[in-house]
Amino acid sequence: MSTNTIYVFSGSGNCLDIAKNIAKKLGDTDVVLMRSTPEKTDATDSKRVGFVFPCYAGGLPGGVEESFRAVKIAPGTYTFGVTSCSAYPGIGLSVLNSIHPLDFWSVVTHHCSCIWLFPHDLMMPILNVEKAQERSERLAALIGAQVLAGEKNRKAPKANAFNKAEASAWPLLSKKKAEKLRATDACIACGLLPAGGHPHGRRHRPARALPQPEGLRRGAHGEDHPHRLNINSPSRNREGLSACQKVPCGIF
Ligand SMILES: Cc1cc2nc3c(=O)[nH]c(=O)nc-3n(C[C@H](O)[C@H](O)[C@H](O)COP(=O)(O)O)c2cc1C
Repeated sequence: MSTNTIYVFSGSGNCLDIAKNIAKKLGDTDVVLMRSTPEKTDATDSKRVGFVFPCYAGGLPGGVEESFRAVKIAPGTYTFGVTSCSAYPGIGLSVLNSIHPLDFWSVVTHHCSCIWLFPHDLMMPILNVEKAQERSERLAALIGAQVLAGEKNRKAPKANAFNKAEASAWPLLSKKKAEKLRATDACIACGLLPAGGHPHGRRHRPARALPQPEGLRRGAHGEDHPHRLNINSPSRNREGLSACQKVPCGIF
């Protein structure tokens, strides 16, 4: 039994890092992953119970709401929720609050690793990776201190209608997007396709003629290159180029 329990879901590590940093500040804390069923659902012995999870498409990652419901918390326990997002928190905290009324809640923005929604480095406020990580660590330590001090938010977290609609459309949209990552007959067998997706980005098919980004020339990963991805994102193009340089596919 630990004094505190933090339940965490993390797709690409930001929330796990935040949860661990809050736990470090709190001391004596169990950090429990929210998978299909969390390993420990009975938190009735804990003095403080927290939840850390990301915003995905305005809502919660699949299965997280079910995990919230599975967790048992004793009446009078101090509860807190933290969501991480790249720009806006969505409805997750409000869903959590309707299941386990929250004493305290907070939001930590960080970079996004989603391959189709944003450039990886887009977040609010705009920060590079190092600064974003420093800020995340600083905010997690602050949240830990606020939880230790028993701080309470005066207002409940809000859910806006746009995010609700976005979250309900997400399962279908993500399924469609995922289909585009499958290899098709257009695959030229460059050998770069790992299990689960193409490293160059969203579509594995010959590209349409698109405007040239600066620094890329026709015939050298220009508009004829079948691997190209977001033509408006030089940083992603660089990733595509470096992957090609490591494993020359010989098609340009
Ligand atoms: C599938 C997916 C959907 C996302 N949707 C949103 C969103 O709607 N709004 C937002 O601000 N950030 C969004 N993000 C960014 C994540 O919430 C943010 O990067 C978070 O720190 C990720 O935490 P994690 O690394 O623990 O998964 C999304 C990320 C992914 C992977």
